[in-house]
Amino acid sequence: MDSYKQRPSSAHDSPYWTTNSGAPVWNNNSSLTVGTRGPILLEDYHLVEKIANFDRERIPERVVHARGASAKGFFEVTHDVSHLTCADFLRAPGVQTPVIVRFSTVIHERGSPETLRDPRGFAVKFYTREGNFDMVGNNFPVFFVRDGLKFPDMVHALKPNPKSHIQENWRIFDFFSHVPESLHMFTFLLDDLGIPLNYRHMEGFGVNTYTLVNKAGKVHYVKFHWKPTCGVKCLLEEDAIRVGGSNHSHATKDLYDSIAAGNYPEWKLFIQTMDPEHEDRFNFDPLDVTKIWPEDILPLQPVGRLVLNKNIDNFFGENEQLAFCPALVVPGIYYSDDKLLQSRIFSYADSQRHRLGPNYLQLPVNAPKCAHHNNHHEGFMNFMHRDEEINYFPSRFDPVRHAERYPIPSNICTGKREKNIIAKENNFQQPGERFRSWPADRQERFTRRIVEGLSDARCTHEIRAVWVSYLTMADKTLGQKVASRLNLKPSM
Ligand code: HEM
Repeated sequence: MDSYKQRPSSAHDSPYWTTNSGAPVWNNNSSLTVGTRGPILLEDYHLVEKIANFDRERIPERVVHARGASAKGFFEVTHDVSHLTCADFLRAPGVQTPVIVRFSTVIHERGSPETLRDPRGFAVKFYTREGNFDMVGNNFPVFFVRDGLKFPDMVHALKPNPKSHIQENWRIFDFFSHVPESLHMFTFLLDDLGIPLNYRHMEGFGVNTYTLVNKAGKVHYVKFHWKPTCGVKCLLEEDAIRVGGSNHSHATKDLYDSIAAGNYPEWKLFIQTMDPEHEDRFNFDPLDVTKIWPEDILPLQPVGRLVLNKNIDNFFGENEQLAFCPALVVPGIYYSDDKLLQSRIFSYADSQRHRLGPNYLQLPVNAPKCAHHNNHHEGFMNFMHRDEEINYFPSRFDPVRHAERYPIPSNICTGKREKNIIAKENNFQQPGERFRSWPADRQERFTRRIVEGLSDARCTHEIRAVWVSYLTMADKTLGQKVASRLNLKPSM
């Protein structure tokens, strides 16, 4: 054995107890004391190490999406999309790529119930041969705000009151009374879809618009959609109370048990694509994350399937330490100018450097499975073994060269500096159409949830009136109904 060679930490296989430094532990029951009754000696290094390790077990939870469950599997291309993208992992039908997926709720803490009304995260890490591609989506196709500058305030309003630590409707309805573009998202959150049955029975959406680039450099805007093969199912309020009352981790358990039983969850991946030259043809801005793209005009095109066939071995290593980032793309997939996406490109890695440390991408679950090389080095908890003398670029001693150039969007960006809202806001058409597409009982449940929220004693007349005006602009009957139940006159 080469005594200088590092052993991987997976060699956690000694037949007897040891300290972290490998010294044998001959008694793991009693502390080292003076006499039988103590006091305890500070020189009991094993005791100190054990307790110190325990004292530091928790790391900061994610600032949002703290509660989640993950599983592993593969993605398989089923349809040829090579005319749209040069992404290697999408190169041909039959190509498989290993993935890890994390589902989550958004607002509450790491141990909170999985039956709360909340959007669900649907994040997929593809370990491709050209680096990791993270599709960090949700179970709803739209979002609350279209500019990342509003995101921290939005999250603060949805999170518990900083004084009482209780989530309160008056704070939510107050904040969003200033954000009319959020109404579309509320037609998902306060719809029956607001509490998914579990993680297997929900859709996923990339939500933001990305760009596909083919070998010739031709670009298409793209939206991603995951459809579960077992269908979409939700919990109505009373079922949610029953399910959550008996198990606050029911969705994590459902995912784990299904995979353990060989009943592998599966989703089909579809895309909608748009030629950027057509982006002005719509009465909304296609890069506005509060809008869906109508499927009758931009139909869903099948791409592949996602199968989760392996449970994680360790929750901390493969869930808590797992780090997704919308900035992680591969050649053939690029961002768009969607303002919300642009803020997300910065935020995730920034948060993860704080939550997990600067070398979080060396953690096994986050590291690419392909070879990689650069001169970013050192830093806290760097455990990469490097034996080299050239840590600068360029160097005549270093044979590593640039990768082959790959196409990125070549559109010209011009304009003056400004802080502004987009031209085509169109905040109410899609929420109204969505509401009218529902049968009467579903409309009634939605209306009841809105009225319930606005009935919070601290929702002022002004807040209620603003909401009623938004609802009326989406759908007159809806606005009238909510107004009459709140004893308000609709303002329009
Ligand atoms: C500007 C808007 C947004 C910002 C600044 C933001 C920021 C963040 C941050 C800081 C995290 C925690 C990351 C970590 O600690 O690992 C996070 C998690 C997450 N976000 Fe966002 N987010 C935004 C919008 C969105 C949108 C639109 C979606 C859905 C498409 C989304 C989906 C997710 C998901 C799924 C996670 C959890 C990932 C996981 O399972 O680890 N976020 N977000």
